[in-house]
Amino acid sequence: MNIPRPLKIESGKVYALDQRALPDQELYLEMNSLEDCHEFIRDMVVRGAPLIGFTALWGMVVWLRRSLSTSLEDYKKAAEFLKTARPTAVNLAYELDESVQFLSLAYEKGKSNEVLLSLLEDFATGQMEKLERDNRKMAELAYQELVTQTGKSSGFRLLTLCNTGFLACGTTGTALGVISTLQEKNQLERVFACETRPYLQGARLTAYELDKMNVDHLLIVEGAISYVLERESIDAIFVGADRIALNGDTANKIGTSTLAIVARHYNIPFYVVAPVSSFDLNMSSGDQIEIEMRPDSEITHWKGKLMTSAGTHGLNPSFDVTRGTLIEGIICENGLIRPSNGVEELRKIAMKAIE
Ligand code: MRU
Repeated sequence: MNIPRPLKIESGKVYALDQRALPDQELYLEMNSLEDCHEFIRDMVVRGAPLIGFTALWGMVVWLRRSLSTSLEDYKKAAEFLKTARPTAVNLAYELDESVQFLSLAYEKGKSNEVLLSLLEDFATGQMEKLERDNRKMAELAYQELVTQTGKSSGFRLLTLCNTGFLACGTTGTALGVISTLQEKNQLERVFACETRPYLQGARLTAYELDKMNVDHLLIVEGAISYVLERESIDAIFVGADRIALNGDTANKIGTSTLAIVARHYNIPFYVVAPVSSFDLNMSSGDQIEIEMRPDSEITHWKGKLMTSAGTHGLNPSFDVTRGTLIEGIICENGLIRPSNGVEELRKIAMKAIE
């Protein structure tokens, strides 16, 4: 893949690609402490639900390397601190909780920090390798579904929002992973990428990934969604997720629910592609999901310069909740879930791996 790795581990050091500088610059920042890790996640050096989770695991590696403590309680405390960096993507808490569970026995047995560190490094690497395999499965399921829905086997015209590719996952990716896999097999005609105001993950990151993959793509503003869905023969829409509740309600980048509502109007199938680590089975509906509010300067300013009248303030929710009723299918590594089939199907498929 011709796209820079969002996380680089070299001679025990952890570097994060500063996604704020893309596509102009491919700049790496070294992570030297737990505080650095928290800041990288909070300030969007790294972003995208799976990548936030993996970055936190490598943040714990950095912490453990410098820590003198061999107590599980201290490990948990450090993990709890990282969980506060961003509230909406459940992958952050998921990966940290999984690592606590994975290390508890070694802590109980009084293993040295050296042993704990090597276990944690293997765990973090293993989690990323698992997502890579799972992304491939999701892409295959999405392809089968596309064939069933459209009756064709290539020439797909797709639309996506935000960035869900290599930069958001450190692996093939979820929704954009479907797109890159179809591109590898020459089955795509064209992709429409929403710019994703105000942070421009679509314009800066998705378009950059599509360009590097030589995908025929057009960038659109979110205001053009109805125009494009009405006139551009879109076969399907694929997006990612930050948290999926039991009834299929899905939190994802702001603008996703508008897209799903308009897609229903034009009868275009709308899919969420996400690993089981993005599911939150403790939440019965999306009403319980905390939505991150970001600074309004992301709307009122452009490259540090005020664009509005000085007295104007903005409202900047970073995510919204798409109701499960608007989602044709949620594609995860365990299969395709149709929220219209009810809560039990979602629970069963999501829990398949741990039954
Ligand atoms: O604010 P971001 O850039 O972290 O938001 C990212 C998204 O909303 C993605 O769609 C989601 O995390 C899925 S990434 C595979």
